[in-house]
Amino acid sequence: MSAQPLAVAAPPVEAAQEYPFTDKHFELLRGLVARHAGISLNDTKRQLVYGRLARRIRALGLSGFDAYCDLVKDENSAEIENFINAITTNLTAFFRENHHFECLAQEVVPALLQSNAASRRIRVWSAGCSTGEEPYSIAMTLLEALGNRNGWDVKILATDIDSNVVATAAAGVYAANRQQGVGDARLKRWFTPAGGASGALRVKDEVRELIRFAPLNLMGAWPFKGPFDVIFCRNVVIYFDKPTQGRLFGRYADVLAPHGHLFIGHSETMFGTCDRFELIGRTIYRLAGRP
Ligand SMILES: C[S@@+](CC[C@H](N)C(=O)[O-])C[C@H]1O[C@@H](n2cnc3c(N)ncnc32)[C@H](O)[C@@H]1O
Repeated sequence: MSAQPLAVAAPPVEAAQEYPFTDKHFELLRGLVARHAGISLNDTKRQLVYGRLARRIRALGLSGFDAYCDLVKDENSAEIENFINAITTNLTAFFRENHHFECLAQEVVPALLQSNAASRRIRVWSAGCSTGEEPYSIAMTLLEALGNRNGWDVKILATDIDSNVVATAAAGVYAANRQQGVGDARLKRWFTPAGGASGALRVKDEVRELIRFAPLNLMGAWPFKGPFDVIFCRNVVIYFDKPTQGRLFGRYADVLAPHGHLFIGHSETMFGTCDRFELIGRTIYRLAGRP
């Protein structure tokens, strides 16, 4: 009697997939994502791409990836927006990387109160704002740090390529499980019940009205010149290759005020991509060469 094999080799992942997904599909799709959004997808993202786009194929009632690729290959296709929305990763949280908000309150705002005393204006950009937790954290921090200094004109621009997350951000309503990181005192001060029994809270109007939300692809033209006092672009460039990061950092330098600060994500660095900034704290940069 021959011995039974202990284990049968697992079938290739693709055999279990609902739609055939070949190298050709993956190459075409990742080329399009890089071209439209600057997002560079390595081979480990293959399953992610399959899973997210299989949902679109199902929703559209298409036969599979051949049909989907034909659709998004067309530059004018209305599906491009959904395609990019499906590919982006939108993980975020209130007061994520809290040392940035501490720096904003304790160092940047006091400096701006002096440098901008004549204009009494503060302009901040949250670039890649996802579902809004970042710009609302900035707004709460600014309101707290400015205290009762009425008469200061404070505006935050919050943009993202993903139109779905921008709509969520603008609504400003967060379920109980999204409120972590805010803390009881801030929940009480800056939020109001959104209605219903779910525990969802809405950001108060006095915070919301500081922010203008808009869809924007960082790889495209920017319909503004700045200058911004502060730019938050955190956990966004991690998806771009180094030359793309360098070009983007250079464009940020162009729209920052001479005293401007740039905050980037915890696993990101400007090292080797752009020399127009100096590092002044943990992932905190200031324009180089200022007096
Ligand atoms: C991981 S989230 C980071 C959110 C927030 N900045 C934070 O740190 O919590 C990255 C965001 O970058 C956005 N993004 C990616 N590529 C972009 C592009 N080319 N233009 C604008 N936004 C982009 C994604 O849609 C996503 O919402």
